[in-house]
Amino acid sequence: MPTSVFVALWVAILHLPMNTAAPKDQPQSLTGRIDSLLRAAIATVLEDPSADVDPLIRASSNPDHGDFQANVAMSLAKKLGQKPRDLAEAIVAATELGELAEPMEVAGPGFINITLKPSAIATQLEAMSNENLGVISDDDAHPIVIDLCSVNVAKTLHVGHLRSTIIGDALARVLERLGRTVLRENHLGDWGLPIALVLDRLRKDSVDLDQLQLEDLDHAYRIAQQAIKADPRGLDVARQRALSHRVAELEAQQRGADEALDSAKQVLIGLQQGDPELVSQWEKLIDCTMRSVYEMLDSLGSKLGPEHNRGESFYRDLLASTVETFESAGVAKANQGALVVAFEDRERPLLIRKSDGGFLYATTDLAAIDHRVHVLGADRLLYVVDARQRDHFRDVFDAARLIGWDKTADGHKVEFSHVAFGSVLGKDKKPLKTRSGDNISLSSLLNEAMSRGQAEVHRRAADPKSPTHGLEESLLDATGAAIGIGAVKYADLSNDLLRDYVFDMDRMISFEGNTGPYLQYAHARVCSIFARSDGSPFEDQPLMLDEPEERALGLMLLAYGPVITDVAASLEPHRLCQYLYRLSESYNSFYQQCPVLKTEDPAVRKSRLRLCDLVRRVLADGLDLLGIEAPQRM
Ligand code: ARG
Repeated sequence: MPTSVFVALWVAILHLPMNTAAPKDQPQSLTGRIDSLLRAAIATVLEDPSADVDPLIRASSNPDHGDFQANVAMSLAKKLGQKPRDLAEAIVAATELGELAEPMEVAGPGFINITLKPSAIATQLEAMSNENLGVISDDDAHPIVIDLCSVNVAKTLHVGHLRSTIIGDALARVLERLGRTVLRENHLGDWGLPIALVLDRLRKDSVDLDQLQLEDLDHAYRIAQQAIKADPRGLDVARQRALSHRVAELEAQQRGADEALDSAKQVLIGLQQGDPELVSQWEKLIDCTMRSVYEMLDSLGSKLGPEHNRGESFYRDLLASTVETFESAGVAKANQGALVVAFEDRERPLLIRKSDGGFLYATTDLAAIDHRVHVLGADRLLYVVDARQRDHFRDVFDAARLIGWDKTADGHKVEFSHVAFGSVLGKDKKPLKTRSGDNISLSSLLNEAMSRGQAEVHRRAADPKSPTHGLEESLLDATGAAIGIGAVKYADLSNDLLRDYVFDMDRMISFEGNTGPYLQYAHARVCSIFARSDGSPFEDQPLMLDEPEERALGLMLLAYGPVITDVAASLEPHRLCQYLYRLSESYNSFYQQCPVLKTEDPAVRKSRLRLCDLVRRVLADGLDLLGIEAPQRM
């Protein structure tokens, strides 16, 4: 086999998830079936019907060794004190792969080499093209809660909230694709002292709240935060050193801070008691923030709207009883006037009620868990939040477990996950800021992405040979916007979530490399084959996978379903990105070696059209799960 084909094959199948068990009545993936058969054979060899040993199936790195290798013999033989090769031979002798694969071979110290029969690949592809693209659904009827976006009212949205929205939306789509019910919860920071501080400030400045802009809010927020700053330690030092000027200055500052805080507390009490004027003003602050949030969501095309808002304020009347539950169960204990939950494995406890009786961010999160598990009935809670809140979520999840909120009413185990992500950096490797040092405005960032995409689309359309030449302006604009937004989303999703990444618009919007536009373009190129074909039907043609590139592409397509299951389990969208990128590369190798429309033999032509059809469907489906549009022409 020529090296290039070998490399293509290798790239095509390496690192793909091998085994995803399907519920009993559903078709299994090909590798899933081989995995089950090998498990059964191992149980036979061990003479233990209950044994369930992972056969450790991996894609082969060398096509001479077949498509896959089962590596179990080495580790298992060691445990049993046997020779790995003998054990491998015994497993092979006990396995009946029938129509799925050629007779297996034992190689080297005890690798079991598996080569699929082309007919098995073709049969599975046939099934995939009718059945849901090979995606195996998950029949758990409990909803999954995804906490996402969760901006703070009265503060500028920052890139972290953009990431939370993009990642949360993609995970929600993947889980929904598997048939799960997903409840998106926008846990807005819409309650508490910070908001009371801003509202108090705005009232003192007699700002017209009906004309309020996000910038005014942001400004008031900063002034209000500044006003409560004092320096008690500096004051002590100044007093000790008898620096009378400094003492006077710091005392005045302290008085000002105390006054500002007291005044804000009065506003908060008024809000808590439902003072109609304050409540209506508070709602105006929320409206003002949410206007920009909805604008952002609209540009992003995220499936998130007002119906998903359930901010911290929703839980305000549940906090006292939440704390009471912890206290009466003995899970929370008094500590210097405050109430804390202590953990065995770490020193720092979780504060759930301050000594002044006030509640905290964590208290609200506990009330929210109670609601999500016991009212919404969810068995999986995902929190798509900045990695800097790792300790907070560890504490809150552990506290929930201590009180027994890790079981649904019907006794199902509840899984809590903090889907943590890293920061977005500017080219200077520092957190992304505008030139003036402010947090960057999300709308300007998204607008720039869209206009960059549009400029590129218009530039390409000017070429008379381009498939977009002569298209309506509005269609070109829409395509350009989809490219710009797709670029931003893909950049956000295609790396390990925890990695900080540099926001580089030039790179992310490029049609080359591992980018969103590259995948969108790959999809549009496959679509163009159908636009150029004479339209005669091809669906009834049995698939033929005689060329190595056809075989590799077929195997790659079969990995789609297992990848989706894998993303749902690992909560790592970059695995889907990687898969789609590899699929595009595998398609490119196929397209270079295997002419489609120019092939004379109608059977081969139709079979290849069927492969192209599957590629375009998988690319469109996969991009949709990432929340990225797949235009037909680019
Ligand atoms: N509003 C918070 C922030 O911007 C994020 C909230 C995350 N969700 C939660 N349930 N704590 O930092």
